[in-house]
Amino acid sequence: MSAKGKKTTQRLDKVLSNLGFGSRAELKKKAKQGSIVVNGTVMKDPGKHVDPYTDIIEFEGETVQYREFVYLMLHKPPGVISATEDLRDRTVLDLLDEEYLIFEPFPVGRLDKDTEGLLLLTNDGKLAHELLSPRKHIPKTYEAIVEGRVDDKDVRWFAAGVTLDDGYVTLPGELVIHSHEERGDGVQLSRISLTIHEGKFHQVKRMFEAVGKKVVYLKRVSMGELRLDENLEIGTYRELTEQELSLIGRA
Ligand code: URA
Repeated sequence: MSAKGKKTTQRLDKVLSNLGFGSRAELKKKAKQGSIVVNGTVMKDPGKHVDPYTDIIEFEGETVQYREFVYLMLHKPPGVISATEDLRDRTVLDLLDEEYLIFEPFPVGRLDKDTEGLLLLTNDGKLAHELLSPRKHIPKTYEAIVEGRVDDKDVRWFAAGVTLDDGYVTLPGELVIHSHEERGDGVQLSRISLTIHEGKFHQVKRMFEAVGKKVVYLKRVSMGELRLDENLEIGTYRELTEQELSLIGRA
């Protein structure tokens, strides 16, 4: 039984192969050699059922740490696709090591190819559903550089909801203007952040298009309570901390 009282026994070779210890055939050999020990007893039959949450499994002398889910924070770089496969481009999975790929993680939601920032990867489908459910209105905050002078009128429009190119009226978004500057070619640029509560296709870019402006740089900095760790170098990732897991209800 698991800690939650649910029956969780599985075949020993399935548990070990899911954790990347080898194929079923390899594990059969290892078991015959006496390399697998469960609760202090050598297990020669890898087809036996074990409870990976409560049984102590050792593989080649090392205790196996069992877990079903992984939760990774990726600082997505531009140029990679938020998908598990793509025929042409590199995907975010190409940035992960094999020790995580064995869990078959997928990105929670999408960022455009040229968008950077916070991307959560997990194999916890329930969490992904919770975070992406349109009914939950999980806030997502982006930082952007926009061509044109974003002003208080835009702040008011975004607060009221803007009409996108397909006629959809967005939920109110909170637009904060940080600074204005002039690019070398004389074009005005605005540094802003925008929090939205839904996730329509290219939503941030299309909201600015709706007010006649163009996003030239976009980075997601938070999703719900989870914030991008600014010490996480672009293109790198790490597991969520206990504290971050509790922010998403997975402590
Ligand atoms: N809005 C966009 O326009 N692009 C993204 O990648 C995310 C939000």
